[in-house]
Amino acid sequence: MLPRICIKFKLKYIVSVAITVLLLDYFGAFTHMFEADFERTFSYPMEGDILSNVYQLRHGQRPAVDPINVYNFSYITDCQHKCKEDDRLIAPRLVLIVKSAIENFDRRVAIRKSWGWEKRFSDVKIRTIFVLGRPAEPDRRLQSLIDLEYANYRDIVQGDFVDAYFNNTIKTMMGFRWAVSYCPRAKFYMFADDDFYISSKNLLKYVRNPVNYPEYLEETDEALRKLARRLSQTTNSNSSQQLDNSSVSSLNVRSKRQILNMDMELPSDVKLFSGFVFRSAPHRHRSSKWYISLQEYPWDMWPTYVTAGAFLLSHEALFEMYYVSMYTKHFRFDDIYLGIVSLKAGIEPLHSEEFYFHKAPFLGPQSYKYVLASHGYDDPEELVKIWNEVRAAGYA
Ligand SMILES: *[C@@H]1O[C@H](CO)[C@@H](O)[C@H](O)[C@H]1NC(C)=O
Ligand SMILES: *[C@@H]1O[C@H](CO)[C@@H](O)[C@H](O)[C@H]1NC(C)=O
Ligand SMILES: *[C@@H]1O[C@H](CO)[C@@H](O)[C@H](O)[C@H]1NC(C)=O
Ligand SMILES: *[C@@H]1O[C@H](CO)[C@@H](O)[C@H](O)[C@H]1NC(C)=O
Repeated sequence: MLPRICIKFKLKYIVSVAITVLLLDYFGAFTHMFEADFERTFSYPMEGDILSNVYQLRHGQRPAVDPINVYNFSYITDCQHKCKEDDRLIAPRLVLIVKSAIENFDRRVAIRKSWGWEKRFSDVKIRTIFVLGRPAEPDRRLQSLIDLEYANYRDIVQGDFVDAYFNNTIKTMMGFRWAVSYCPRAKFYMFADDDFYISSKNLLKYVRNPVNYPEYLEETDEALRKLARRLSQTTNSNSSQQLDNSSVSSLNVRSKRQILNMDMELPSDVKLFSGFVFRSAPHRHRSSKWYISLQEYPWDMWPTYVTAGAFLLSHEALFEMYYVSMYTKHFRFDDIYLGIVSLKAGIEPLHSEEFYFHKAPFLGPQSYKYVLASHGYDDPEELVKIWNEVRAAGYA
């Protein structure tokens, strides 16, 4: 009797230990033990002094070492005309590069009549393009719809690569390449997915003073109110309400420009790479959409990265990162890839809470006063409705 119970007990014990081990393995517990220390050991091909090659490449010289990674898929449609205008002296201030999936026709329609609208401002030139891949299987009907859309709007940059989630790095880098090749004189480049809400108006304010946004605007509002109060006191009248209004509008013309630092610009060589910044660890549990093996990425942390749904680059950051990418091995997560590229380029990503990784709660237009970008707008009707409301309030 006794030995049999013993064996049964042992078997149960062994089985439960085995299950525990398998579960721990599934959730990546052992993988974590074998991860390398990011801070001390991170390095990623191509190693060595790539920046001197980047410099040579950017300045039309022959680099000592040839690039190792070029996203040179050919264009099906290239939108070469976008930034090639008669008034060549005025380059776009902002280029909106929308990463869109082929089948999202209705989202592109909504974006064209909301935040992607190129004529949004009479005095600020904005250009918008949509970057697409091609269908996985040849699909004449779908492709002819894209051709038709291109003929109508002339804003589709379609690359000859399969449009798939894990080809997002290709899509992003084709956007970089397009900007460097065909729209190289713009001041700022905003990349966004087609399920985002964007406020170009706020972006234009953001780039004046990104480190102090939005506080600098509040300080400006306060300064304006103070000045208005002082002006109305000195005019010594009993209808101060009216004077308040007229003094504020006279401010609009003169002092407001100075107070708002309207003529102040970031230096043109500033390397701004900004969005919602993360410091996080790789997913090692096998059920994750972002599971990554030790072979593919052995370190315990990702480099500092900006979530790829929406990010902003200055001209200089875009160019530098594009050329550095040519010396950076491909990686299939686009935000991590750009994180590695920016690390190699020596560009530190700038975090802003006004880029919303999740959906920014909408409680009326006032709640979007400072919002730069918000995820979660996969419903085109909702996007247009919200954008119109926020625009009417002056924040989009
Ligand atoms: C792209 O680059 C690779 C390697 O640099 C080269 O082998 C290939 O022919 C190029 N393709 C095109 C379409 O230029
Ligand atoms: C990405 O695109 C390339 C080129 O078209 C293709 O060979 C590859 O299968 C695509 N990857 C995925 C995950 O679809
Ligand atoms: C101030 O208000 C009083 C009464 O409301 C009015 O009679 C007077 O004319 C006003 N003074 C000026 C300078 O407007
Ligand atoms: C001044 O502005 C306020 C708020 O904008 C408005 O309610 C008021 O009617 C204006 N007053 C005059 C005299 O225009």
